[in-house]
Amino acid sequence: MTDVPDSEWRSRAEALVSTLVERGDLVSQHWRAAFTATPRHLFVPRVLRLVDGGYRTLTGDGPGSREEWLSAVYSDDSLVTQHKPHAGGYRLPSGEPLHVPTSSSTMPSLMARMLETLDVRDEHRVLEIGTGTGYNAALLCHRLGDHAVASVDIDPDLVDTARDRLASLGYRPALVTGDGADGVAEHGPYDRIIATAAVPEIPTAWIKQLAPGGKILANVRGNLAGGTLCLLTKEDDDEVMGRFLPMGGHFMWLRSDVDNPHGPDEHPVEPVIDREGSRTTTRLDPVDLDDDGFRFLLQLALRRVRAIGRGRQPDPVDGGDREFVLLAGSDRSRAEVLIEPEPDGLRRVAQTGPRRLWDTVEATALLWHDLGRPTPDEFGLVANNDTQFVWLRHRDAWHRWPLPLV
Ligand SMILES: C[S@@+](CC[C@H](N)C(=O)[O-])C[C@H]1O[C@@H](n2cnc3c(N)ncnc32)[C@H](O)[C@@H]1O
Repeated sequence: MTDVPDSEWRSRAEALVSTLVERGDLVSQHWRAAFTATPRHLFVPRVLRLVDGGYRTLTGDGPGSREEWLSAVYSDDSLVTQHKPHAGGYRLPSGEPLHVPTSSSTMPSLMARMLETLDVRDEHRVLEIGTGTGYNAALLCHRLGDHAVASVDIDPDLVDTARDRLASLGYRPALVTGDGADGVAEHGPYDRIIATAAVPEIPTAWIKQLAPGGKILANVRGNLAGGTLCLLTKEDDDEVMGRFLPMGGHFMWLRSDVDNPHGPDEHPVEPVIDREGSRTTTRLDPVDLDDDGFRFLLQLALRRVRAIGRGRQPDPVDGGDREFVLLAGSDRSRAEVLIEPEPDGLRRVAQTGPRRLWDTVEATALLWHDLGRPTPDEFGLVANNDTQFVWLRHRDAWHRWPLPLV
């Protein structure tokens, strides 16, 4: 553990807090105090950075990297602290195996906004899903006292390390190794559950372990639209309901196996499709896919699809090098759209596999316009023991989409 004198980290923590306050991420005195007093460097002794096609490890002890490490730790950045090789065996241009992040310390501004949104009161008990470094658990302990905090992570090594770090600050919250989807029944019920790993639906254990009137804050998502934070309240015995928030917050998946770095339906994507399959044209500009509201609706309409990536491929007709957008389904459905239109304004589309993915994109674009181009915060979610679905504008509205989102 690198020794960092108080004089060296406190001013950095204060500067970070000032930035978060100026931007409106931190508002309340309680959370300002927690962020100011909590030494993030204690929880992130090692940062893994992807730089120039390879990985760099920043530590306080690394030759020449102490200043870079400290600056990273007290910056408003998400810091990857653990990763595992991609199951697809992909390699970086450097030849190193491509890794998938399996733990990180969340961006402080996102953590601040989420903690403010959580609206905790002095007497509340909180469950955190995804202990990771333990930093957020430390913030919660500062705010509520360690007796009121429980946190669970699927990775036993992370839990053990977080326990030691928290103990060095005098905190002894309930730290548990297990699948966060099961919650932590033995320390509940909870007034608040905050998930720092993403879910495609609300685990029913969370609903059960929530006190009446309690709230869940989680990134509920599929593979197409990432930053969809949802705040749900338990109004009925076994039901939570609430809205997606105007603020974004993208988390790595809650995964079911500690050794598998991938989330549900995160299949490796081959960037090649068979252009001898169906060929059509489209008036829709693939750039429209970047609109948050449209992406959100598309995620509801198009399941088991990921990687709307961009790449360059030889054109199927004239062999020229063209930029395209690719959608890839886990059932090997593929749609590829050339971004540059032809002189008649139409873009070329190739689709293969059991589903015609681009046809669904076009139908969803029409629906999105018909619905008045809703933004993500116009959607809400209801979850109980029998059903979970997303609604638009009102729970009883005609349009609803079932969960899970993968
Ligand atoms: C973004 S990190 C959490 C950051 C953490 N709150 C912090 O302050 O450092 C996500 C964490 O979720 C954990 N995780 C993934 N799947 C899980 C599961 N099924 N149950 C519990 N934790 C899980 C990962 O091991 C990882 O540490």
